[in-house]
Amino acid sequence: MTANAAELREIVDGLSGEVKKISPKYFYDQRGSQLFDEITRLPEYYLTATELGIMRDNMDEICALVGERASLIEFGSGSSLKTRLLLDHLPALAAYVPVDISGDYLHACAAQIRDEYPHVDVLPVVADFTQHFQLPSPAITPVRNIAYFPGSTIGNFEHDAALELLRVMHHEAGENGALLIGVDLQKDPKLIERAYNDSAGVTAEFNLNMLQHLNRDYGANFDVTEFAHSANYDQDNGRVVIELVSQVEQTFAIGNTEFNLANGEAILTEYSHKYTIEGFADMVEQVGFSVAKIWTDTQCMFSVQYCVRA
Ligand code: TRP
Repeated sequence: MTANAAELREIVDGLSGEVKKISPKYFYDQRGSQLFDEITRLPEYYLTATELGIMRDNMDEICALVGERASLIEFGSGSSLKTRLLLDHLPALAAYVPVDISGDYLHACAAQIRDEYPHVDVLPVVADFTQHFQLPSPAITPVRNIAYFPGSTIGNFEHDAALELLRVMHHEAGENGALLIGVDLQKDPKLIERAYNDSAGVTAEFNLNMLQHLNRDYGANFDVTEFAHSANYDQDNGRVVIELVSQVEQTFAIGNTEFNLANGEAILTEYSHKYTIEGFADMVEQVGFSVAKIWTDTQCMFSVQYCVRA
């Protein structure tokens, strides 16, 4: 990937505000994607295994709700085991439509899925899924569209942006449609913080890798050794605050724009919001969905929710 002017502006703007921040999309260079994949397999990172377990345990019910000839629209490129689990079990899909802004990655994932599921009509859409996008027309007319958003990625959006995204999903799902979404739940802060501060240090490496990515592709000159990973659960706002904290007083530059950081000053790289069942129901209701079914694990760590048009 090479730097483009709009991205450079976005990075510089993010570092110029009251709270210094860099968009989480810069986590995902090749190394970052690998590291995130490793995160999902860490013992402390309960999210992925718990969600997968919930899907496995309730697959019959999920299939009954989705029904036959649905079009499964995945918000994201669909490289996960959860997607394959659905493709393994959902009856006679009209189409599988993964939507992602990263064309290369999307097409690679789609090719893989086509290979494994030759009977499924795989119709990838390159688009920024936070904005309305045009759905393809499958050869078989779908009975309903299912917007699928696993991984509690909704938690990485701030309140207004999350509402906007749910609105897009409501629109893309259409008349008969539904939303199948993974939502991480509020729980003992110690369990949450452990998931973002693993003992093997993979999450720290993932967070710090963003600086290496900016050095390589965006003309930054971060000294990565002068930053430390930090992830704390802010209970008042129900979210993990993930930051890179400067260990010294320092100056760094992006191209020819210089920035100062005090010792202990942080750059925000991501939020991960955790919801209550009521809080999430409230949000989807604001965009015209109603929660029809909630599946959880025995400890109520994570939820998979099926929302229909209200
Ligand atoms: N969607 C993931 C989550 O909120 C992203 C994530 C996991 C993450 N671990 C991280 C982001 C560590 C930044 C740092 O759980």
